[in-house]
Amino acid sequence: MSRMPLPYNPKIMDLFRNPKNLGKMEDATVVAVAGNPACGDMITFYLKISDKDIIEKAQFESYGCAANIATSSIVTEMIKCMSLEAAWNDITWKRVVEEIGGLPDVKFHCGVLAVGALKRAIRQYFTQRNVEAPSWLPKEHTFEEKQALEEEELAKTLSKRLKPEAEKKS
Ligand code: FES
Repeated sequence: MSRMPLPYNPKIMDLFRNPKNLGKMEDATVVAVAGNPACGDMITFYLKISDKDIIEKAQFESYGCAANIATSSIVTEMIKCMSLEAAWNDITWKRVVEEIGGLPDVKFHCGVLAVGALKRAIRQYFTQRNVEAPSWLPKEHTFEEKQALEEEELAKTLSKRLKPEAEKKS
């Protein structure tokens, strides 16, 4: 059975073929790994943050699909020189989907993962410095963070999903 190619727009295809800010960042201030429960793909997000809480650089590594690579790439460009507060408030998955010119419905979760990884990195920044979280950072995890699971949570979720399949076969 042949698969229909997904209707990606030219902007997505261009960012997929020539992603910006792809690769490990050696001098990152914070590193966050996030996994997608819908497909099992992973992403690592790196931020270099100044003393004044400005994002100086952002990079990513993705083991996801074209939509994930393209959305991650655009997020790293959108947040450059932003304050953490502005990045937290302004970068939502809806805004990212708009910025990239739309995603096929079945690929929305790939864009959500990119934003979830960013939000996890910002939250982790305050946790790892052991300082009080600023008032703009909600205690409750956002939708995007909930959708972007940590590596261990993702492994658990996927193994639970696989178990009934394995039991059926045995
Ligand atoms: S299908 Fe997994 S990130 Fe897109």
